[in-house]
Order: sequence, then C-alpha cells, then structure tokens
Amino acid sequence: MSYETILVEQRGAVTLVTLNRPQALNALNSAVLADLLDAFAKFDADASQGCAVLTGGEKAFAAGADIKEMSSQGFADMYGSNFFAGWEGFTRTRKPVIAAVAGFALGGGCELAMMCDFILAADTAKFGQPEVKLAVAPGMGGSQRLARAVGKAKAMDMCLTGRMMGAEEAERAGLVSRIVPAADLVEEAVKTAATIAGMAPLSVLANKELVNAAFETTLAQGVQFERRLFHGLFGTADQKEGMAAFVEKRPGNWTGK
Ligand code: CAA
Repeated sequence: MSYETILVEQRGAVTLVTLNRPQALNALNSAVLADLLDAFAKFDADASQGCAVLTGGEKAFAAGADIKEMSSQGFADMYGSNFFAGWEGFTRTRKPVIAAVAGFALGGGCELAMMCDFILAADTAKFGQPEVKLAVAPGMGGSQRLARAVGKAKAMDMCLTGRMMGAEEAERAGLVSRIVPAADLVEEAVKTAATIAGMAPLSVLANKELVNAAFETTLAQGVQFERRLFHGLFGTADQKEGMAAFVEKRPGNWTGK
C-alpha cells in the first residue's frame, strides 16, 4: 500500500515507517495523521509484524504540526473539530513503536516521538516545544508527556522558553533511551525492533501495557495490575516454551498463544 505522506516498508518482522514531506520538514498535517493511523492499524493487525520504527529524515524527524494548516483557524474550528484528538488513535497501537529521531523534533514532532514507546536519538537530534513562540501551547500532549519524561523544571524551561534541547541533554534528562551516530540511526532502530519482534508476542504486549500503566495509576494499583498480568502469562503456551527453552539451553520457538 502506498501513501501520500509516509513510506512503509517491512523488514522481516519490523515495520519501518518514514515520514516523507521533506519540503515541509515533515510538518504534521491531516494527511500525515490519516496515513499514520491507517499504516499503524495495519501493522497492529498483521501477525507477521512484531515491532515498528517511526522515523523522519536527516534534517527533521518532524518540525511540528503544520503551521500553514492551522494559521487561519479560529476557536470554533479547532474546538468544533476537536483538532488533534485523532492523534490519540496512534497512541492506541498495541505493539511497540520505536521513534528514531534525527534532526528537528519540534512541537508536534517532539510530541509524536513521545507518543512512541521509546526514543532512539541520533547525535543530531534536537527536541523542543516552541509553541509559545507562536503564541499558543503544545496541543498533542507535549506539556503532559514532556513533564512526565523529564520532570517539571526542564519541562517548564522547554515550554516557557521554546528552546531546543540537544541529544545529550535529552539523554541525561531521560527523554531518549540512547544516542547513536546519525549514520547508524535507522539500522540501529531496526535492529532493536527486530530484537523485540523476536520475543514472545503476548509478553511483548503485556510489557508495553504494564510500563504504560505506570503513568496512569497509583503505585499500588500498578503493582497489582503487574502481578495479575504476570499470573495471566502463565496461561500461555509461550510461557511453557520460554521456560522449557531456558532449561534446555535453546532459543524459544514462539506460537503467540
Ligand atoms: N509547519 C509548516 N511548515 C513548516 C514547519 C511547520 N511546523 N516547519 C517548517 N516548515 C516549512 C517552512 O515553512 C519551509 O517551507 P517553505 O520552503 O515553503 O518556506 C520549509 O519547511 C523549510 O523550513 P525553513 O526554511 O524554516 O528551514 P530552516 O532550516 O531555516 O529552519 C526550523 C528549520 C528551525 C525547524 C524552522 O523551520 C522552524 O522553526 N519550524 C517551525 C517549528 C515550530 O514552531 N514547530 C511547532 C509547530 S506548532 C505545533 O506543533 C503545535 C502542537 O502542539 C502540535
């Protein structure tokens, strides 16, 4: 299937999705949202695919929501259409999605990267929430996800000044999991995704659901949920296989059951 604004490629069990509006530094407009929702729904439904990588270009992962699409809109348009609410569909992807970020990840670009399960950053990556400079504020979850990822002090600094944060600062702050040389970014992300895609599929879904629950629940509720899901995995054939494979010193052979 081909799309207007993204490229989608399967590399074994890894789906590689590349934002492809280089002339606009991959600014996120309604067409990008529609394409991503369709591609990620297909990825989730395809049993041959275990993990996805979302990347952009060398200069920009994405330089934000499309300012030209928004500039003439009024409150009634934005509120009436619940503008940006559609991005929540992307966050409902059940299988893991790794953001591989090189260059600018600004505004909606930073927010989209943060909607992924973790971020691998090229040494060229630059993150920011510059909406304040446009006399608005983040609208795709940036103020909330950034505050949870890097804490109040840095989130306030980023949102109030609109400054950019480089890859090293982002790694120190906990926004990204790792930095890799720009030239290796996509290969490294695909390799990481292939490792995840090689795990037992139900345990991958459970691990993602559990870590996400840490941001939605109290500690006691989260620990209880974790224990119950841990118990539940003992109802799967892959748990029997995984533990037998360990004892027999061989790789597991998963059925996804
Ligand atoms: N929306 C629409 N078009 C954009 C864009 C955006 N967010 N970012 C860049 N572009 C376009 C530029 O208008 C330009 O197009 P033209 O050639 O037709 O003029 C093209 O991409 C190249 O950009 P620049 O010439 O500006 O490139 P540069 O290297 O000089 O600067 C930059 C790069 C610093 C990233 C600069 O483009 C920039 O500041 N972009 C806007 C960043 C921003 O404010 N993002 C937040 C958007 S609002 C938002 O995201 C709300 C939200 O919460 C979701």
